[in-house]
Formats: sequence, structure tokens, C-alpha cells
Amino acid sequence: MADGSDTMDIFERVREQFNYAPYPATPLDYFPKNDSNMQFPYCAANAFYRRDGRYVPSEGLQILDAGCGSGVTTLRLCLANPGAQITAIDLSPASVAVARERLDKYGYTDVALYAMPLEQLSELGQTFDYIHCHETLYLLPDPQAGLQSMAAVLSERGVIRANLHSKYQRHEYFRAQELFAYLGATTDCDQETAVAIATETLDALAETTQLHARTWRGKEGREKDTLLANHILEGDKGFTILDLFDLLRGAELDLIDMVNWRHWNVRNLFKPGQDLPDYLQVAFESATPEQLLHTFELLHPVHRLLDFWCGRAEVPSSYSSAGDRPPTDWETATIYLQPVLRTEKFRAALDQTVAHGLTLDMRPFLGCTDPQSLTLFANSLLIFHLLWQEPMTFVALRQLWQRLHPIDPLTLAPTTLEACGEALRLMLPDLEDYLFIMIEFGVG
Ligand SMILES: C[S@@+](CC[C@H](N)C(=O)[O-])C[C@H]1O[C@@H](n2cnc3c(N)ncnc32)[C@H](O)[C@@H]1O
Repeated sequence: MADGSDTMDIFERVREQFNYAPYPATPLDYFPKNDSNMQFPYCAANAFYRRDGRYVPSEGLQILDAGCGSGVTTLRLCLANPGAQITAIDLSPASVAVARERLDKYGYTDVALYAMPLEQLSELGQTFDYIHCHETLYLLPDPQAGLQSMAAVLSERGVIRANLHSKYQRHEYFRAQELFAYLGATTDCDQETAVAIATETLDALAETTQLHARTWRGKEGREKDTLLANHILEGDKGFTILDLFDLLRGAELDLIDMVNWRHWNVRNLFKPGQDLPDYLQVAFESATPEQLLHTFELLHPVHRLLDFWCGRAEVPSSYSSAGDRPPTDWETATIYLQPVLRTEKFRAALDQTVAHGLTLDMRPFLGCTDPQSLTLFANSLLIFHLLWQEPMTFVALRQLWQRLHPIDPLTLAPTTLEACGEALRLMLPDLEDYLFIMIEFGVG
């Protein structure tokens, strides 16, 4: 880590950069209301569910946006968590001013905003249930101190969502940053000059020069934003999964899950339908999450962000997947619809498909949970329709299912309650794994 004076220097340079250009430069007119797939990681209920297998409504939650920038993330938090009390902080006063304007414009005047470093969060004298720290941790001179500061104001069963830049995926930009620092285009001049030097250099490169081909081609019209967010981003650093776990241990935090966990399944990187080599089969069976995730990033470093949820290490997660539950557990289960799906856009699509027994591509509604195409069939969509008004116990859903499916299509005999329960126990875990639904066990 840098010594004290360097740390101060990086701090000031980061602040200066975001005062010059609050991030993101999204116009105030852009309102992400129907953008539900973007709201998915902003919805605190998802994080709490993956932590403890419980559905936690957003009303009354204390939520912090740490490093709120120009307020787009704060606005998404407001939309994804109705009734929550939201606080946002950022190092850059100019960014906070834009965030204030953005939130006021859409009526979120009660969001508390402060220009302050997240290393001093304890000065707020408050604890938070969900701390959201997006695209910020990797800019801190000491990310572990940042995590410790957030952990210190986290409620007992609270969750932090944060992310780090991947060292492997983003290596071309780290090289560009090294280049422009070496040329004096970042540390020795103001932001405007740094942007000008970097633009002229990249424009002058031959099309086939790697830096141009991999980081600059196709960026026409977005040069300044691209440079400030990448080639000359102050404070930016890359991390591996091993670094991430070290940081968590140092802050006495435990990984809950990657936010896009379905994209991190190392087994999906092998040829489908074939057994793994024996050595790997045995190694994967006894591997820790850290080992599996690190193997994934070494094999296939496609994720720019190591985007994770974590919580206090002394309060371990208690989630276990619905697919691993015995039939007796289901008798006490209650099923909830994913709150982010409750939009007019999804309701309209659902009405169409349920009425005509069609299929529906779910990616526009919850894109971030699955790497491949994601088409749901009529029976799954019917479940969403039944849960729309209110959550249902498994027992009530099974009864309704029998009324809706009175005849077995194969034997043409009347269906039994038992067979309907079995069909639901087969279908619901898949929907739960995508988090289209949440299933609480032991409370029905
Ligand atoms: C890339 S922007 C991300 C903004 C927003 N979270 C988003 O994703 O749209 C990073 C933000 O982190 C802020 N930041 C950097 N270091 C910080 C620190 N130590 N404490 C608080 N904010 C910080 C910057 O001022 C900047 O607004």
C-alpha cells in the first residue's frame, strides 16, 4: 500500500477527477423506471434472500449508497426498494450536487446526501441494513480500510454489495493507465489536458496497434467518458478472487455470493454432456467457493467486475437452495414473487403469455441472472400470475394447481394432490435458482 502522503495524493486526484466529471454523465432526464433487469442487484430483498433464505420487504430498511456519484445508482436503489430510508455519500461535492438535483427531480427529496469519504462513515452515527458500493471500492487507496469502514456501520444481519475490477479481464486498460501515467498525462496535468493527451495519442495510433484495436475502436462520440472511466481513471486497480477473499477476511466479512452467481459456475466452462476428467471431478467436489471462483477466473476471465454480496463473518449465511429440500420441508413453505418483476411492462407481457399459453423470454426483465437465453414456458408463467396479488403457501398453491390442472395429460385420469405437489417441487427450484421467486421454508 502507498504511504500516507501518497494516499492523500490519490485521494485528492480521485476527488478532483470526479469533481471535473461526475460519474456517470447520464442526463438528468433519464429515468430508469422500467429498467427492471438493471434494478435486480439494487433490490435489497435479493441480497437478504441469498443470505438467509428469507423474504425481507424493503419498507423501513436503512440503505446506504457509498460512492453514489451523480446519483443514478441512488435513484435505482430508491426505485428497487420502495419505503426504504436511503442515505448516499460521495467523496466529490460536485457529484453529490448532481445526485441531489437528480433525486429531487423525481421526488426523492428525503434521501440524505453527504459529501464525505466512505472511510469516515462512522461519523454518520448510524447503522445500515444494506450497503451498496458500486464501482467505487477499487478506487480507494486502501480497499480493506473501505470494507472495514462499511462493516463497522453494517447491521448484524446486514449485507454489503460491492465490486472490484478484475485484474485479468481488464488488463488492457491497466496497461493504458500505466502508459498515460508514464507519459505524465495523469499525475502532472489537469483533467482537461489529460483527456486531450490521451485522445490525441489513441487517435494517432495505427488501427492494428493493440491498444487502439482493443480499447479505442468504436468509441467515437464517447471519447471523453470512455477515457475518464478507463484509460486515465485515477486510483483504478485490478484484483483477483484470491485478493477479494483476503480483503474480506481482513475486514471480518464473509462472501455471501457473487451478485451474478449463475455466470460464475466453473462446471459450465466444460463441454456439455461429458464427464469431467477424474482429477477435476475430485478436486471440484472438495473445493471451497474461493477455489471454484478462482479457477473460473483463470479459465475464463470475462467478468469486468468481481461483483459480490458479503456480510459479517460472525453471523454466517443460512441460505440453502430449494432444490436440496426434502418434500416434508415444502409443507411449511411460503412463496414470493421477485419484487423487481412487479412492473407494468412485465404485467402486460405476463397477461399476454398466460392468456394464450405462450412462452416468454425473461432476459429483458431480469437479464443479469443468466448467461444464456432464458425462455420460460406457460406453466412457470402461470406461477408468476398466481403470486402476483400476494405470496402463497406451498399448500395453497398445490390446491390451486390441482384445480387448474384437473386432468393428467398423459393418462387422462384425474390428477391427485400428491402428483401436483411433486410437479411443483420439480418446477419451483429452477425458478428459485434464478430468483424469479423466493421460497421461505419453515414459516408456512
Ligand atoms: C465510478 S464512480 C461510481 C458512481 C456510482 N456508484 C455508479 O456506479 O454510478 C466512483 C465514485 O466513487 C467516489 N469515490 C471515490 N473514492 C471515494 C471515497 N474514498 N469515498 C467516497 N466516495 C469515493 C467518486 O467520487 C465517484 O463518484
